[in-house]
Amino acid sequence: MSKNRFQEGFLWGGATAANQCEGAWDVDGKGLSVADCSTYKANVDPKDYKAQHGITSADIEEAMKSKDVSKYGKRHGIDFYNRYKEDLDLFQEMGFKVLRVSIQWTRIYPNGIEEEPNEKGLKHYEEMFIEMKKRGIEPLVTLHHYEMPIYLCNNYDGWYKRDVIDLFIRFCKTVFERYKSLVKYWLTFNEIDSVFRHPFTTVGIVADRYPEEKLDEVIYQSVHNQFVASALATKYLHEIIPDAQMGCMLTRTLTYPENCHPQNMLLALKENRENYFYSDVQVLGEYPKHIKNKWKKNNINVEFAPGDEEIIKCYPVDFVSFSYYMSRVTSKDEDQKEKVSGNLTSGVKNPYLETTEWNWQIDPTGLHISLVELYDRYHKPLFIVENGVGCKDKIEEDGSIIDDYRIKYFKDHIEAIAGAIEDGVEVIGYTPWGCIDMVSMSTCQMSKRYGFIYVDVDDLGNGTYERKKKKSFYWYKKVIFTNGANL
Ligand code: BG6
Repeated sequence: MSKNRFQEGFLWGGATAANQCEGAWDVDGKGLSVADCSTYKANVDPKDYKAQHGITSADIEEAMKSKDVSKYGKRHGIDFYNRYKEDLDLFQEMGFKVLRVSIQWTRIYPNGIEEEPNEKGLKHYEEMFIEMKKRGIEPLVTLHHYEMPIYLCNNYDGWYKRDVIDLFIRFCKTVFERYKSLVKYWLTFNEIDSVFRHPFTTVGIVADRYPEEKLDEVIYQSVHNQFVASALATKYLHEIIPDAQMGCMLTRTLTYPENCHPQNMLLALKENRENYFYSDVQVLGEYPKHIKNKWKKNNINVEFAPGDEEIIKCYPVDFVSFSYYMSRVTSKDEDQKEKVSGNLTSGVKNPYLETTEWNWQIDPTGLHISLVELYDRYHKPLFIVENGVGCKDKIEEDGSIIDDYRIKYFKDHIEAIAGAIEDGVEVIGYTPWGCIDMVSMSTCQMSKRYGFIYVDVDDLGNGTYERKKKKSFYWYKKVIFTNGANL
């Protein structure tokens, strides 16, 4: 295998989100977030994403009264809040150059509306970033990873209400000021395009609070407000930390046509454009015309305040980050075809691909294609900030975990990245998702494991919370130490 395909200083690491790993949901002044109200539903098929993920006003009311942590799995997480030093040691042992984490808005402003930040929350992340630096690990920080204060969801209609932009910017300015000597890489909104897939988690919108025919408008308005907030956050980041960089974060849901029938080609092109819409606005600084045409055609009225378009134009992001888990297939005859559905997306089954236990189609070549397409479209450095495979791991009698399936998955995807680099794509780094097992975003399960490190917790939060290195731990360590030469 040829060497040096990855540039010197390539940012190898891993990715996490605070709400899925920290636990400690009600300590040190933390407020309740949308994540703390998401439930693990034991009697629902984990592949039935809608049944798992749908949330009503009554569900929220119940969650707010409850102290349960088994049902609300993100409340227990993996206790990263208290054990992060031990975990950072393990990440350091693997050679991580970067770790993606998020700051929970509710630890800094518990309800999102306070005038003054919560010092305990600020101190916690400060200490964590210092510990990362000590271990030679660069923090990559997401400002908004499905963690909105539930107070804003209930009292401001989530991101639908414009006032939330100011509240979010107050939070951003607070953390930029506080961590200006510690954090250089930032991301605004995690998977901003997921707004239609799960509006509650992404923008705090509860579907039963709006007439059905109004819902698209509510969602587009909310995402518009996030675009303005993203541009303003980029502006203030550059003012407060001039050498820092801001990235957008897209779920790249690459869509193939079922075959070369021109109508299928056109369909796939349109679906890919819908996905690119979100990064187009954040990178190119303007709305694509096809979205405005769609609004007109469907009588969707999104309010732009004076100056919004200029703000979006003036403050694009510095780099493009994205998650990549799978590809999908579209067909003009979709109704007659066999389907697959994962929580990220559904569509026609691709006969050439295998699926995971959770029905996600495994497609490393799709990552190669996505990298080339994104780079050709934006000409900006790319950062793959999520990629991975959720599996049920088995502990052998001798205590080992032989996760060869995970090693194969990563090997094939890293090969795909190397292929894209050879094709001239500029890639800054790679942070596999769930570098340590944590609670699943969609199903709130622990048994859907992504990590190189096993955590002894079950779906109900029971266990010792002890960490154990899987076979993939040693494999990824070797990959990092050889800068991707030895896969
Ligand atoms: C991404 C999210 O969609 O996928 C993560 O940004 C999430 O938060 C990851 O954990 C994997 O999805 P899941 O549902 O299997 O945890």
